[in-house]
Amino acid sequence: MHITAEKTRRVCLGPAIQGIPACGCSFGQCLSYDSDTQAGGGGNTGSYLSRTPGESVLCPHPPSTAFPQFSCFLEQFFSAGYIQIKTLCRDFSNFKTNFLTGITYLDHAGTTLYPESLVREFYQDICTNVYGNPHSHNPSSRLTHDTVEHVRYRILQHFNTTPDEYSVIFTSGSTAALKLVAESFPWRPPTAAEPASQFCYLTDNHTSVVGIRGVISALGVVSLPVSPEEIEARAKDVDQSEGSSCQTPHLFCYPAQSNFSGRKYPLGYVRGIQARQLYPACDSKGRWFVLLDAASFASCSPLDLQEHSANFVPFSFYKMFGFPTGLGALLVRNDTAALLRKTYFGGGTAAAYLAGDNYYVPASNMSSRFEDGTVSFLDIIALNHSFDSLHTLTGGMDKIQLHTFGLTRYTYMLLSSLCHGNGQPVAQIYSDSEFENPSTQGAILNFNLMDCHGQMIGYSQVDKLASLFNIHLRTGCFCNTGACQLFLGITNQVVKSNLQAGHVCGDNIDLVDGRPTGSVRVSFGYMSTFQDCQNFLNFVADCFVEKPVKVDQDKLDRLKSNTSSKGSSQCLLTMLTNGKPDHIDEREHASTDLVVNQRGGKAITKDAKSHEKAQTLTNIYIYPIKSCAAFEVTDWPVGALGLLHDRGWMVVNGNRVCLNQKREPRLCLIHPQIYLPSNTLLLQASGMNAICVPLKNHSEPPQSHRVCQNMVCGDRVETVDCGDEAASWLSEFLGQPCRLIRQSPDFSRDMKKGHEKEVSSTALSLVNEAQYLIVNRASVDLLQRHITNRQESSDDHQPLDTQTLISRFRANLVISGKEPFEEDDWSHLIIGNTHFQVTFGVYLVHQSLEDSNSTLSVGYQFQMCFRLSGP
Ligand SMILES: Cc1ncc(COP(=O)(O)O)c(C=O)c1O
Repeated sequence: MHITAEKTRRVCLGPAIQGIPACGCSFGQCLSYDSDTQAGGGGNTGSYLSRTPGESVLCPHPPSTAFPQFSCFLEQFFSAGYIQIKTLCRDFSNFKTNFLTGITYLDHAGTTLYPESLVREFYQDICTNVYGNPHSHNPSSRLTHDTVEHVRYRILQHFNTTPDEYSVIFTSGSTAALKLVAESFPWRPPTAAEPASQFCYLTDNHTSVVGIRGVISALGVVSLPVSPEEIEARAKDVDQSEGSSCQTPHLFCYPAQSNFSGRKYPLGYVRGIQARQLYPACDSKGRWFVLLDAASFASCSPLDLQEHSANFVPFSFYKMFGFPTGLGALLVRNDTAALLRKTYFGGGTAAAYLAGDNYYVPASNMSSRFEDGTVSFLDIIALNHSFDSLHTLTGGMDKIQLHTFGLTRYTYMLLSSLCHGNGQPVAQIYSDSEFENPSTQGAILNFNLMDCHGQMIGYSQVDKLASLFNIHLRTGCFCNTGACQLFLGITNQVVKSNLQAGHVCGDNIDLVDGRPTGSVRVSFGYMSTFQDCQNFLNFVADCFVEKPVKVDQDKLDRLKSNTSSKGSSQCLLTMLTNGKPDHIDEREHASTDLVVNQRGGKAITKDAKSHEKAQTLTNIYIYPIKSCAAFEVTDWPVGALGLLHDRGWMVVNGNRVCLNQKREPRLCLIHPQIYLPSNTLLLQASGMNAICVPLKNHSEPPQSHRVCQNMVCGDRVETVDCGDEAASWLSEFLGQPCRLIRQSPDFSRDMKKGHEKEVSSTALSLVNEAQYLIVNRASVDLLQRHITNRQESSDDHQPLDTQTLISRFRANLVISGKEPFEEDDWSHLIIGNTHFQVTFGVYLVHQSLEDSNSTLSVGYQFQMCFRLSGP
């Protein structure tokens, strides 16, 4: 098996064509977008056609499809709850939902969002109190100690239990809590009298649980994966007296909620396993302990530990509150605590020990014994405010559960009923339920999209397009290979052969031989709104559905009546066909025109006749500053890294993070130009006085111009700061602290591994992928025709001209080829006397520059060599 570009491209093509014009806004309104901003690095697609939506166009996304609203359904789930939209909007204004500037955040299962009030209150707290190290005994330390103890109490209260029943051990997160159990559980190897301990786990567990296997494998302990069906299907009524003398401890781990599908597993399994009524406990003598992984469940659901007394309960606080991060806990039942073994003893864990002798007595207090070193006490203190704000904003977990379930169910009903114009369903949803009940389904919806021929659309394509629409979701396997395999029908053999074919966890190889290697997950939090669901559904309908958008009414009606809550069957369905967006922001739109420019007196006017003659270079564009506007030239020198000064600079924010158009769309309104005779970079933007920045720092840079390291596309690059004047100019225009930096002249960065095979020149400027990007006019013409046809059949958008479309790709070189996509088969290209190699897709590098004065000029003829065919 191998991954073919052909396969990938074929599935990408549908959404690529559909995604651009069907967004509901005319292209004049779209912001030109930069290949520098591309999500995921790209490179697995063979042509820029498939690369377009994810990498070249940011389309602010007013909804073109209005989805049905179920008024009493909404009432049922939302008015019952706490959601005071105004309060929420105020508190989450960082994340405001607004088509042009806001985020539709749908990755709450990754981490949820924190309200401003939480951070404010915490800030106030630590500014007014002095919190010392809790291991000291001075007044500030006592204050810390007492506050931390109070927080422990609140945590237990949150889970309806008390310090008499459970202890709280703070950890850095769920994973650390799980590792702690793995390392301290009293695993027993087999003896003549008793069997070995068993580590049993549901296959639908997070990697962090499955990884316990790694700790126990050397101990002779048996690992037993259990599928969800087996637990009840293989349950037996065992005689409790049978095997009562056997003391072998066994551990059974299951998630209260699957982080893949949102399925909630019965909390009754806790007692069922402990009492040896369920599989696998019913099959093995000994003492059965249950680890209930609450990491995913605890974010939106109430957990009552008095009723479901699992022995170990790990979770992470950022999933519940968004803040603080890096803090989790393991709740341990006190009657289990004595069993746990501890080998390492860190600061604070000892009652006594001798430095010179092998003598150590652990602290009697359970928490102290297991919390090595000083706990993250300020983060723990922040939890006080996290609990406060959660309660103030929502009224509690029951309401959060109802609210988030309502949103998920609504999205599920619509997405699963959504059809292409030809009646084919749009989504394959991975779930065990039909989202009838919040006690069996959490606020997670997992799916893959399909084109109108039923072909799967790779999750990376969905992810990249969603990013452009500022919809934040998660894709891949979610660190839950078991569930991923089960739902996607991926055999063990296929996992192994996918690895051989180059697919690793977390990459963007989304389809192998047309079959998905992962999926898309949207998840909701207590601050999610109905608008978030609408934004997401509109995004799917606009970008991935062959028009006209259809809804399977029978299915929708059935799902609608499927609720276990009374009253919903009379819900009113209001279908708003051809609905118009409520509000389109009148924000300044970026011009899509390429910059008119001159170099050395040789002007290029907007109307300059492009060289349409076949096989010629028709346009040259330079992008001096990554993600900013282009300037066009008629001839330009070729430097060691590509076109001289192309992507030589970038803008970084106050934290020195590289800005791209996704992070700062206004970058495209900055028009940099290079004047070679005067060695200057000119910065211009509407409403600002132009400034000149020297191309080189002539003297030793002052402290503020120091060399530093920045990340570009995952690579470290050495950069030099261009000074305070440029920094203030950019900060004023972009409305945030920014600096202009350029790649250090002594620094060399190479193309990513895999692309550099047989390539003679791999040194890069601040580009993402390669030295040059070319666009073939013939390919863009074809794309433009597709777009126009599609627009004609759907609505009244203004037709898009080829030149505007070309500008979307932010190419350096535009050529007029004879055939659309012929460039996909080229291996080499000669323009004038410069030789290029086609590295992948439409990316080029030049071959050794024999002539150090190599120049490219518009009108140059080009010749090409074709790739040898074959796999
Ligand atoms: C069910 C489940 N368990 C464990 C974890 C690991 O949590 P953390 O990365 O916070 O340690 C996660 C994280 O998503 C999860 O969803």
